[in-house]
Amino acid sequence: MIEVDNLSAERSGQPVLRDVSLSVAPGAVTVLVGPSGGGKSTLLRCLTGLAEFSAGSVLIAGHRLDAGPQPVATLQAVRRDVGMVFQQFNLFPHLTALDNVMLAPRVVLGLLPVAARRRATDLLARVGLEEHAGKHPSQLSGGQQQRVAIARALAMQPKVMLFDEPTSSLDPAMTGEVLAVVAELARSGQTMVIVTHDHGFARRAATEVVQLAAGRVVARGAAGELL
Ligand SMILES: Nc1ncnc2c1ncn2[C@@H]1O[C@H](COP(=O)(O)OP(=O)(O)OP(=O)(O)O)[C@@H](O)[C@H]1O
Ligand SMILES: [Mg+2]
Repeated sequence: MIEVDNLSAERSGQPVLRDVSLSVAPGAVTVLVGPSGGGKSTLLRCLTGLAEFSAGSVLIAGHRLDAGPQPVATLQAVRRDVGMVFQQFNLFPHLTALDNVMLAPRVVLGLLPVAARRRATDLLARVGLEEHAGKHPSQLSGGQQQRVAIARALAMQPKVMLFDEPTSSLDPAMTGEVLAVVAELARSGQTMVIVTHDHGFARRAATEVVQLAAGRVVARGAAGELL
């Protein structure tokens, strides 16, 4: 589902990824770990074309990204098939949870309101928020907002989900409820790449752990061996 081949990237003239290669099979969960500044977020951004890379290639969900700027059509295709969840939830504050989840299927996929609403309602139930569908983000806890963000990404039925430290701005109770949702996704066979410092979660959910430091893959293996 993902094949990263000798990817290198620079920021402000400094190398931030060097010869990174990575492969994620359909249904696998790869957890990215490593020190701050190691290049984890940059790598996730390269996977969706949000960040440019200078050498190597990415195959993701059937799309190929090459070094340099990506064609707009490629970016649109990748973003349709790859969902991203960030540390900041980035929900639309003026929309209810339900409308946040319905928006992309309506606008990007052209689903009719009835179908988009049914899909969004099902997803909010899946993340345990059926009773909160009519609330705005400001009326939800951080953990609830992050679960809406996950439902919103899932509403596009992505082939791959990418998570960049989805729980790092949450307190422990809310971290647990978000990680339970991510673990359920893993069991359902969703292909995922997850950046997290939560080693306990990695041991439970990861097919493989990849450690990045100073822009290089320095170790990879089963969570039980590596962490
Ligand atoms: N826009 C930018 N301009 C200059 N340098 C950048 C930029 N974005 C990232 N970097 C540098 O690239 C390196 C990798 O950053 P990145 O955010 O990918 O690390 P990370 O592993 O996600 O770290 P953290 O665990 O703190 O989130 C860092 O040295 C960072 O300073
Ligand atoms: Mg980061």
